[in-house]
Amino acid sequence: MKKTVIGFALTGSFCTIDKALVQMEELVRRGYEVQPIFSFNIALLDTRFQTAQSIWERALEITGREPFTTLQQVEPIGPKRLTDAYVIAPATGNSLAKLANGIYDTPALLGAKSHLRNDRPLVLAVSTNDGLSTAAQNIGILLARRNVYFVPYTQDDPFHKPRSLVTEFSLLPKAVVSALSGIQLQPIFTPIPQYVLDSETSS
Ligand SMILES: Cc1cc2nc3c(=O)[nH]c(=O)nc-3n(C[C@H](O)[C@H](O)[C@H](O)COP(=O)(O)O)c2cc1C
Repeated sequence: MKKTVIGFALTGSFCTIDKALVQMEELVRRGYEVQPIFSFNIALLDTRFQTAQSIWERALEITGREPFTTLQQVEPIGPKRLTDAYVIAPATGNSLAKLANGIYDTPALLGAKSHLRNDRPLVLAVSTNDGLSTAAQNIGILLARRNVYFVPYTQDDPFHKPRSLVTEFSLLPKAVVSALSGIQLQPIFTPIPQYVLDSETSS
């Protein structure tokens, strides 16, 4: 039987790349075929979190597939029906803004556009410090868009980064399974962490 193929695009939330790669590995463990896809910034930038080369090597090691890093590589995703589901994890404020506004100028985004033309699910894993400010309108647009689903997310550090939203990465495989059945995994907002409930400053 043909395996379900998941396009897994990484964009430049460099501090959450390792968490996304753990879930990429989990999808492979669950029997999915996974094709890594990189935004240009993922493919090119060395940061204080990791080098571009190390992300490339890790994705290849996990999936056995060379990551797509060019527009030419992702363009056939739709015409050749290469992906059953397409994940953008992590999804930056930058990529969410482009996606919401029909701008597809990176492999991560053009791959998503190409995939969506087959009426198949796109799953987004938000990770951005402006999730409850500038990015909020883009998340709102995408919440209302057909075939777009979200991995549940929450405020990761409400007192120090009050506008930040980050996906609960451990829910990514469940969100993909739900999206393949046309269902948004609920609740979209993950529970408030106990430390926030306990905190005196939260009252
Ligand atoms: C070290 C580092 C960490 C970053 N973390 C984030 C992040 O968590 N979320 C985010 O939206 N942008 C983050 N950015 C900014 C994005 O990388 C930047 O907006 C970039 O243009 C995103 O491009 P892409 O979405 O095509 O990958 C970070 C940048 C750097 C250098």
